[in-house]
Amino acid sequence: MFKIYYKLFCAESLRFPTLLFLLLFLLPARADEGMWLPMLIQKKIPQMQELGFRLTAEDIYSVNRACLKDAIVHFGGGCTGEVISAEGLLITNHHCGYGQIQAHSSVEHDYLKDGFWARTKDEELPNKGLTVTFLRRMEDVTEQVLEGVTDQMSEVERQGIIEANIKKISEETLGDMDPKFHSVRITPAYYGNQYFLYLNEIFRDIRLVGAPPSSIGKFGGDTDNWMWPRHTGDFSLFRIYANVDNQPAEYSDDNVPYRPRYHFTISAKGLKPGDFTMVYGYPGRTRQYVLSPAVDYIANRSNPQKIRLRSLRLDVMNREQAKDPAVRIQYSSKNAGVSNAWKKWQGESRGILNARTIGKKEAFEKRFQQWAEASGHQEYITLIPRLKELYSQLEPYLFASEMYTEAVMAVELLRFANTLESTVERSGTARAAEVAERFFKDYYKPIDQEIFELLFTEFYRIMEPFGDLLPSDPAIGEPLPAEASRFAVLAEYLYSNSALADRQKTMDLLAKDPASVLTLIRQDPAFRLVSPFVVKNRDKIQPRIRDINRELNLLYRTWMQAIMEFDSDRIFYPDANSTLRVTYGTVQGYSPADAVMYLPVSTIEGIMQKDDPHIFDYDIPQSLRDIYAARDFGRWETDGTVPVCFIATNHTSGGNSGSPVLNADGHLLGLNFDRVWEGTMSDIEFDPSVCRNISVDIRYVLFIIDKIGNANYLLDELDISE
Ligand code: ARG
Ligand code: GLU
Repeated sequence: MFKIYYKLFCAESLRFPTLLFLLLFLLPARADEGMWLPMLIQKKIPQMQELGFRLTAEDIYSVNRACLKDAIVHFGGGCTGEVISAEGLLITNHHCGYGQIQAHSSVEHDYLKDGFWARTKDEELPNKGLTVTFLRRMEDVTEQVLEGVTDQMSEVERQGIIEANIKKISEETLGDMDPKFHSVRITPAYYGNQYFLYLNEIFRDIRLVGAPPSSIGKFGGDTDNWMWPRHTGDFSLFRIYANVDNQPAEYSDDNVPYRPRYHFTISAKGLKPGDFTMVYGYPGRTRQYVLSPAVDYIANRSNPQKIRLRSLRLDVMNREQAKDPAVRIQYSSKNAGVSNAWKKWQGESRGILNARTIGKKEAFEKRFQQWAEASGHQEYITLIPRLKELYSQLEPYLFASEMYTEAVMAVELLRFANTLESTVERSGTARAAEVAERFFKDYYKPIDQEIFELLFTEFYRIMEPFGDLLPSDPAIGEPLPAEASRFAVLAEYLYSNSALADRQKTMDLLAKDPASVLTLIRQDPAFRLVSPFVVKNRDKIQPRIRDINRELNLLYRTWMQAIMEFDSDRIFYPDANSTLRVTYGTVQGYSPADAVMYLPVSTIEGIMQKDDPHIFDYDIPQSLRDIYAARDFGRWETDGTVPVCFIATNHTSGGNSGSPVLNADGHLLGLNFDRVWEGTMSDIEFDPSVCRNISVDIRYVLFIIDKIGNANYLLDELDISE
C-alpha cells in the first residue's frame, strides 16, 4: 500500500498504480452505519463475516468466558481505553490522558512538552480521581422495568413505576457488592421502548506510564484536528492497579498491577484498503432519528451562535498563551476543550448542508405522513404535527440555556463563584479550599477578564429578543445596558473587587469561621453577578426544558415504533448513550470535494512534509528528525516508511476516542481518535461516502515507544503478532 503512495508521485511507474488507485476508489461505498449492542451482535455477524471478520459473537461478548469486551474500559467516563498486557497496561489517546499529563507538568517537568516515560513501575504516577470501568455483563431488562405499567395509566404514573422498578432492580443486582467499586446502570434504548442493564467494575488506582511529547501526541494540534490527512501519534499509556487479591482498590503503595481477564494481541501485520475493521468502545451521544426541525436548529441556529462565542474565547486564549510558557501550560487543556467542539460544530453544520439532511428528513416525514393517513392510525397521524409544535415551544428555552452555558458560565470567575458557594454549603470549607486550589493552579486573570467583557457584550446582543429569559438584576444591583463600554467598566470593577479573582484573598476568606464564609462569598461581586443568572436558569429555563423534553421523549417513543413499522426493511440501532458498542467497516479513502481523492493511509513522510520549527503545531522533536534522516525505523519499517494514521468506514462518535480498532482476528490495529471533518454530521446522519473514523496505526505507536521513548521494556510486555 505504501508503495502505491510513493509511486503515485513518480511518473515512470504511474500506469500500474493508477489502475490500483482507481480500483481503490471504485470499491462500492457500503453502508457501515450502526452502533450495535455487544450482547445482540449475533444478528450482524453474517455481514461482518462477509467483510472478512473471522471471529464469532461469543468472541465479542460473552458472560461465560473471557472475550474482547474484557479488555475494554470506559476511561475517566469520557473516553475508551484497552488493556494490552497481562500486567494491566492500558492504552488510550494522548488527548484522553491530557488532563493527567498536564496535572503532573510544571515549567521544570513539562511532560506535556517533553513526554513522560516511567522507567520502572515505581516511577508510574498516580492520578487522583481517575477511574476506569469494565463492563462485566449486560442484560435486557425491559420486562422487569415495565412491570406494572399499563396502557391506561398517565405518563407521570408510568414514569413513577419505571423509576421505582429501576431502583429495585439496581439494588438487587448490586446486592452486597461495594458501590465504590461496582455500579449498575439501567438505560433506555429507542426512547424507552427497551431497557438495558449494565453491571460495571470500577478501578481507582490508575497510574500514568508513558506519553509522547505533545509535538507527537498532539501533532497538528487544533489546525489538523477533525481533519484528514492526519499525522497525530495520539496515544498515552496507563496501568491499572489492584489489591493483592486482584480486586479494585483505592490507591495504595501495596497495590499491584492488575491481571486482566483478557488483553489484546497487537497486530504489526498492517492493513490495506478494503480490510475489515471493527471499533469497540463507548460512543457518547448520537441523534439519528430526530425530526427535521431539530436538525435545522442544530445546523443553522445553535451551532453558528456557539461557534461565534467560542471564537471570541479562543482568540484571547491563543494570543495570551503565545506570550508566556506558563500560561500556555495553564490553558492548554482548556483551550483544546473549547476548540474541539468549536471545530466539530463547523464541520457538522457544513456536513448537514452538504448531505441535504434536512431536505431528506422532510421528504421522509412527508412519506411517513401519507402512510400514516392511509393507515388511519390516529396516533401516528398527529405525531409529526405534535412533535413540531413541541419543538417550536422548546426552541427559545433551549437556545437561552445554550447561551447561558456558552457565555455566562464560560466566564471562569463566575462559574467558580457559583461552584464555591455550593461546595461550601454542601461539603464545607475544607473541600472548598481544595476546589479553590485546583482552580487557581490554572487560572490567569487577564484572559478571563477580557473574555468576560467580550462574552457579555455578545450575550446581551444575542439575547435581546429574549428579554424575559434574562434576569432583571444581573449587574451588581442595577440593570445593564448593552453598550460595550459598560461591560468594560463592569469587568474592571468586578476583577479588581472580587476576592474570588485572587488566590490569596480566596484562601484567606475560606480560612475564616465557616459561618461567615458563606456570607462573605454571597456578598462578593462575582457571586452577586452570577447568582441571578443561575436562579433564572434553574427556576425558569431548565424546568420548562425538562417539561417539554419529557413530552418530546414520550412522542419519540411512539415515533420510533412508528418508523420501525413504516420503514420495516431498515435495521435500527439505538442512539449512542455512553454504553459499550460495536461498529465495523473497512479501510477506505474518500473524496472530500470535487476532483479530490484521499488515500486511506498516512505515513511519516507526511510528518516531514508538515514539519516546521516555526509553527507550534508542526514543530516535531529533533530526535524524530534525526531518526528520519538516518531512516532508522527499525522493525517498524514498512515498504520503506512508517505508517502513521488510517481511516475507515466505522461509525464512531465522541467517546470513541481511544477505542481499539481491531482486525478480522480481533487483534489491535490502532486506536480510534477522531473523525474526518466532512463526516462529523454522522451523529445525525451517517453518509457512507464521506463518514470516516481516524485511527493512529499501532505500528506508529510502537515505533514511538521504541525510538522516541526508548522504552523497550514496555514492548517486552506486549503480545505482538508480526
Ligand atoms: N477531535 C478529537 C476528539 O473529538 C480530538 C480532540 C483533541 N485534540 C485537539 N487538537 N483538541 O476528541
Ligand atoms: N476525539 C473524539 C473523542 O474524544 C472522537 C472523535 C469523534 O467524535 O468521533 O471521543
